[in-house]
Amino acid sequence: MDCHSNHSVFLRADGSLACWDDAGSRRTLHSFDPTVDASQQVVFGSVFGEIRRKLHKGNMPFPDVCQDCMVFASGACFNPGWAANKEILIFQVEPSIACTLECPGCMTLAERKKRHGPPWNLEMGIFEKYLSDFKRDGVTVRTIDFQGHGEPLINRNVWQMVSLARSHFPDANVSMCTNAHGVFESSQVRSGISEMIFAIDGVDQESFEKNRARGSFEKAYSFMKAFCHGAVAEGRDIKTVWKYILFDCNDSREHLLRAQELASEAGVNELLFVNSQLGLRASKVFSLEDIPAFDSSVVIRMSSYLANFHDVLHSIDKARFALFQLDQNGASANLMFSSNMIRRRFACLSPTDELPEEYQALVYEILDLSADPQFDEQTRLRIKGGLHSLLSKLAISLLEAKNLIIRWKSEEVVRLATQLASQPNSDNAVM
Ligand SMILES: C[S@@+](CC[C@H](N)C(=O)[O-])C[C@H]1O[C@@H](n2cnc3c(N)ncnc32)[C@H](O)[C@@H]1O
Ligand code: SF4
Repeated sequence: MDCHSNHSVFLRADGSLACWDDAGSRRTLHSFDPTVDASQQVVFGSVFGEIRRKLHKGNMPFPDVCQDCMVFASGACFNPGWAANKEILIFQVEPSIACTLECPGCMTLAERKKRHGPPWNLEMGIFEKYLSDFKRDGVTVRTIDFQGHGEPLINRNVWQMVSLARSHFPDANVSMCTNAHGVFESSQVRSGISEMIFAIDGVDQESFEKNRARGSFEKAYSFMKAFCHGAVAEGRDIKTVWKYILFDCNDSREHLLRAQELASEAGVNELLFVNSQLGLRASKVFSLEDIPAFDSSVVIRMSSYLANFHDVLHSIDKARFALFQLDQNGASANLMFSSNMIRRRFACLSPTDELPEEYQALVYEILDLSADPQFDEQTRLRIKGGLHSLLSKLAISLLEAKNLIIRWKSEEVVRLATQLASQPNSDNAVM
């Protein structure tokens, strides 16, 4: 078992450290305290140490939260190297929890107010304290990423923070992801930023504002273009990325071609299409082959923010094993995780959409296992309730589902045996 909190750190605008930025963001791991060393006592001390210890043992650190968290990697092996080498993969910084837009997949204004009191903007002194503690402790920080759950450009000190990050960690990748509703100034490209990500989901006001509610396409595109041209004019080696989350409203052939044309005009280095399960109805474009080609120098990439199939499969196995050991809490947390991930992934299916066969098989497995008498009625009801809307989409039979699962397991055994056999001195291991 592994998770982002083994290798990465999420600093909230109020100065606290939260357990990464999916469901884990509900869990505060450390409230800012100027007398505490954030590196020795927190990230490489007892606070994160306890999380790592549990992951290493194959237990969820916070079952009530982990069971709904997309970065919980149920099927991965714990990597002890991050703590041993005092390394942070991503130091995510939330310059502000405020935002002027209201994207449907993000926090609502009411949630921002209810869950987070002031200060809404990260204070410079607090940020500096974290940087200094990490630096003094000899920590390697690979990426310092300004985003979080609000809009970074709302914090008027954000560019100073970028410069501070760069001066403390000259070799780090210093990145920012913004909704691009800012005003370009040439000092921004001289701040020390190494990567700028512009989150603009559409090619005109109509395709854009369905997700980026209350936003202006013109404003966002102009900022991106001015920034990219400014970076070139100043001779700065800054990677510029147009991040384009795909939805039904912005994924037609015309939209995808126009995005490439506009990306070329703006001078961005990369156009990154993203699949998401948050917010609006999902797109039907899943791979680079689905993107019509437009001849330009812009690199096109595709990434996904979707629950991982293998983690779901693995957590069902973990639940089964926990039942075998009469560990009801472990079984319940793992089965809830698998059911929550499927519910979240397919929350936006319409009545005519089909559920992919492999997920149908997983739904059968979860329902089958949830009938075990060790589960209490409440857990069973929560699982059934979560999967309710998918029951009418089970087109394959229970037998076909079982056959699929047996086939995957057999393939997995063959894959592992081949992997073991290809390792040096593998004779004993295979035996
Ligand atoms: C909450 S935003 C904060 C940063 C900035 N305000 C922005 O919108 O990019 C953090 C990340 O969530 C991403 N995001 C926003 N809506 C999303 C969605 N529906 N699905 C997946 N990611 C989303 C953004 O692109 C950004 O990378
Ligand atoms: S612009 Fe970013 S922070 Fe603002 S609502 Fe949209 S996703 Fe959330």
